[in-house]
Amino acid sequence: MKKPVCIAVTGASGGISSSLLFRLAAGEMLGRDQPLILQLVEVSQAMTSLAGLALELEDCALPLLQDIRIFDNPEEGFNGADYAILIGARPRSAGMERNDLLTANAQIFERQGKALNDFASPDVKVLVVGNPANTNALIASRNAPDLDPKQFSALTRLDHNRTKGLVAKHLGVTAEAVENVIIWGNHSSTQYPDLNQAQAAGKSVLNQIDESYYHHELIPKIQQRGSEIIKARGHSSAASAAQAIIDHMHDWALGTQNDDIVSMATFSDGSYGIEKGLFYSFPMQCHDGVCEIKQGLALSEFSKARMLETQQELMAERASINHLLP
Ligand code: LMR
Repeated sequence: MKKPVCIAVTGASGGISSSLLFRLAAGEMLGRDQPLILQLVEVSQAMTSLAGLALELEDCALPLLQDIRIFDNPEEGFNGADYAILIGARPRSAGMERNDLLTANAQIFERQGKALNDFASPDVKVLVVGNPANTNALIASRNAPDLDPKQFSALTRLDHNRTKGLVAKHLGVTAEAVENVIIWGNHSSTQYPDLNQAQAAGKSVLNQIDESYYHHELIPKIQQRGSEIIKARGHSSAASAAQAIIDHMHDWALGTQNDDIVSMATFSDGSYGIEKGLFYSFPMQCHDGVCEIKQGLALSEFSKARMLETQQELMAERASINHLLP
């Protein structure tokens, strides 16, 4: 029997967590031989609902789930965490400007970064999901000076999976047959879904789709998919975000298969000319618990322009909270 790992989740009674936690506790993220302890964190107003969720988790009698602990603060919630999934964030409310949202979240992720630094396992792997996810990951990482920035990441696997799904639908193949799509940049409407490396059933995707459809329909559709879902459901994506979290953490912990490329927002080391220090989504490959940016991919002029545009948005986000960074 493996030693149990401790997984901390914030925003633990929200919509994404309701889809995530039961699957995670059943072993879908780290394997069906990996026992785990869940440390669930919520704001104090949501603790009653979180306690109810913990009762339901208990009632599943899941063989891998060794303990469920609930907290109303990140300092206790992150204590000893091997994995931290930061879903909770301040949502945008009426009248709130983007900068207000960035500032409100900066305070949340500053505290969480400090708590990770001081209380989590020194090897903790952190995934930020709460929006604006890339910049929240930057804030958390900058507030955790004892942790390597590469221990922090932000979720763009949702965009990656959306791209696979939409390409598959257009070509009439299964999503599994579509490989090596790349999301560059921010988890926002400036992200760049890049199909230059993508293959469907072993054949180049770009040779099978019309360039005008790709540039003028598919890219905007992926960029706007989150908003489309909010309009349709009245809520942000939940089950698909949970799936993306499972995929992201699974690949980080257990490795990507067959040299596949996946998309993750990670600390930029300057690869592909991207501004160092931003949390930017890159093509990644993971082995033995370590993810690396896939190097050496050729970039078209179209790709370079799109990558720059999303980088500029991330630089503007950073500039608006720069005074709050240590
Ligand atoms: C999504 O991509 O579905 C969400 O990040 C959208 C949102 O703003 O909550």
